[in-house]
This record gives sequence, C-alpha cells and structure tokens, in this order.
Amino acid sequence: MRILTVRGNPRKTGVSQRLGDIFVNGAKEGGAEVWDVDLSGLEISPCMGCFSCSAGENGACILRDDMDDVRKKFSLADAIVCISPVYFYSMSAQMKCFWDRCFPFIRGYDFDSQKKCVVNETNFDVKRKKFVTISVASGRLKGSFEAMSHTYEVIAGAMGFEYVADIRRGESPYFGILGERAVRIRKILEAYKEAGKQLASTGRIAAETVATAELQLTESDEAFAANSKIFWQLHRNKKITQEVSDCVRYDPRILLNEMCRNFIPQRAPERASIKFVFTDKNISRTIVIDHGKCEVQDCGCGADLTIITDSKNWCDMMAERKDILKMISQKRIILEGNKRLFAGMKKFFGMGGL
Ligand SMILES: Cc1cc2nc3c(=O)[nH]c(=O)nc-3n(C[C@H](O)[C@H](O)[C@H](O)COP(=O)(O)O)c2cc1C
Repeated sequence: MRILTVRGNPRKTGVSQRLGDIFVNGAKEGGAEVWDVDLSGLEISPCMGCFSCSAGENGACILRDDMDDVRKKFSLADAIVCISPVYFYSMSAQMKCFWDRCFPFIRGYDFDSQKKCVVNETNFDVKRKKFVTISVASGRLKGSFEAMSHTYEVIAGAMGFEYVADIRRGESPYFGILGERAVRIRKILEAYKEAGKQLASTGRIAAETVATAELQLTESDEAFAANSKIFWQLHRNKKITQEVSDCVRYDPRILLNEMCRNFIPQRAPERASIKFVFTDKNISRTIVIDHGKCEVQDCGCGADLTIITDSKNWCDMMAERKDILKMISQKRIILEGNKRLFAGMKKFFGMGGL
C-alpha cells in the first residue's frame, strides 16, 4: 500500500509531530511505502481562485511550486493520512492551503447512484482512496474537534474516499507533563504505532485502537480546567498564586515540569537527582540533572536528595507562604540525603520560595 502522510503542523517539537512520526513508523513496519510530506517545510502558495485548473480538458494550476510533486503523490496514493493541530477549531493554515490546492483534482459533479447523493468527479490515478485523519488539540472543550471532523467528513464523502478513522487527540500538553514513561501515555503512543501498522497491513484501523489513541488523560473536566490554570499562570509570570497552588493538589507533577522548564544550568551542579515523594497522591518522581539537562523521570531508584511531603505543603513552600525551616522542623517536609542540594534549589530552578 502506498500511503501519503500530509503533515500540517508547523511546530516540530509538538505532539502532532510525535504522533505522526510514530504512525509513520508503524505504517512502514506494516509494509507500506510511505510518502511523508511536511507542508510547512515546502513552498506551497495559497490558491488564487483563478479556476485555470478547471478550464478545458487539460486545465492546470497556474502556480508552479512544491504542490506539483505533492499532487502527483496524492493522485497515486492508496491512502491519505492528514495530521494537523487544531487551530481555532479547525485545521492549521498549512493544511487548509494544501486542500485548496487540491482543487485541480475536481472535474465537476457526479451523482452517486448507490449513495443517492451528489459527489465530486475526480481525476485521481487511484480512485477509492483510504482516508485517515489525526487531529491534535490542547483543549477538552466539547466542540474542539467538531468543525474539523465535519470538514474532513465532507471532503471524504465528496472525493469518494473511504474514511477509515478520524483520530482526535485532546489534552496535548499532558504529553509533556506526564512524560513518555507514564503508563497511559505509553499506551496511547503504542496505539498510534498500531494504527499505522493496521492501516498498512489491513486497510483498516480497529475501533479499539482509535479509542486507546483518544484516551483521556485527566479524570474530569474540572481537573483539566484546574490544571490548565497552572500552565497559563506559570507560563505568564512564573508566580505561584494561591489559586494555582490550590489547583496543584490535582497533579503536583505539573509543578515539577515547570521547575525543569525554568532550570538554569549554569547555576546547577553537573549531576544531581532529586526525588519527590508526594504522600497525599501516592506519586513519586525524580528530577534528574545531567550536564545542563533537566528532566522529570518516574524511576523508583535512589536519589541524592529525597523530599517527602504532601502536594499542599510543597505548593505553600513554592509560593513562599510558609517558613521553610519551620516546615522542616515540624516534619511537614522531610529531607533525606544531601541537604545542601536542597539549599541550592532556588538558585537553579529560579522560581518559588525554595
Ligand atoms: C493559533 C492556535 C490556535 C489554537 N486553537 C486551538 C483550539 O481551537 N482548540 C484547542 O483545543 N487548542 C488550540 N490550540 C492549541 C493547539 O491545538 C495545541 O497546542 C496542539 O498541541 C498544537 O499542536 P502541536 O503540539 O503539534 O504543535 C491552538 C494553538 C494555536 C497556536
């Protein structure tokens, strides 16, 4: 099977890229020949609406750019996979521009006597193409994907595609927060690989695989909204307000990730590991510093310093609301290991009351 993957994400470090890469690997493992097209790396001008492509028998697009080659691949592909972030409840500008430039494929209208509806007459080399869409949004709003899915559905119907799967991945920031070792994230990522493999080897994607790819990452809308406040406030001013710290009780891992984000390597030791045990959440995570890099890991191994506390105490401390020494003497924060490392943390994480 020849699969054309069309990537509409401009950001190369984001979730669409990650999921797209995994899907492509799966498709290759499943035996497909994959033509992987990154729209934002190509020169593709917006359609001018001149209708030259539909004029006469041999009408063609007047624009000469990378879309010429993409259209050839599109025409020959057995399956088209569109991967795009959700931007303002729809596809990215790159993806929209791509679809507009597919207009030369349309040669008029036809009546589909089986489906009893009007469809587009098309001039593809391979007619009955399979169609898969993967859309990535940060939100968990009810309507996040509605407009986009509807557009894809209409495109699929009009172009005579077989719509194999519409995979909708919300809550994208959680991929960064929870890290790839988190069980649920691993399961989700594996589902994208599996989806690629299944498409390549069977032309289908099982409903179960789609459901796993779409698994929710927060337990409720309320928890999602609360956690989102933390991202936005920390991103904006790096301050931990009362409101934010109240929210952290849902998920203290967010705070650890933000600490890594603010990490100042020049002020940190070359190597160090700091383990956090949040007693109220039954969560432990280790911040590992290694030659200027800092990441949160979920290894259960020993660390140079272990901080045992509950998430509320930790937030109070970060928000500079409580006397840290008093909290330590009251055993509300228990330190095991290198206490000097604890004293230096404010310096190299550059935030909070550490
Ligand atoms: C211009 C713009 C518009 C966005 N609009 C929405 C939106 O309507 N709904 C939503 O849930 N997320 C929206 N987002 C968030 C992105 O969908 C989210 O960050 C996603 O992970 C981006 O994909 P990426 O990680 O591959 O870069 C928007 C982001 C940008 C930059």
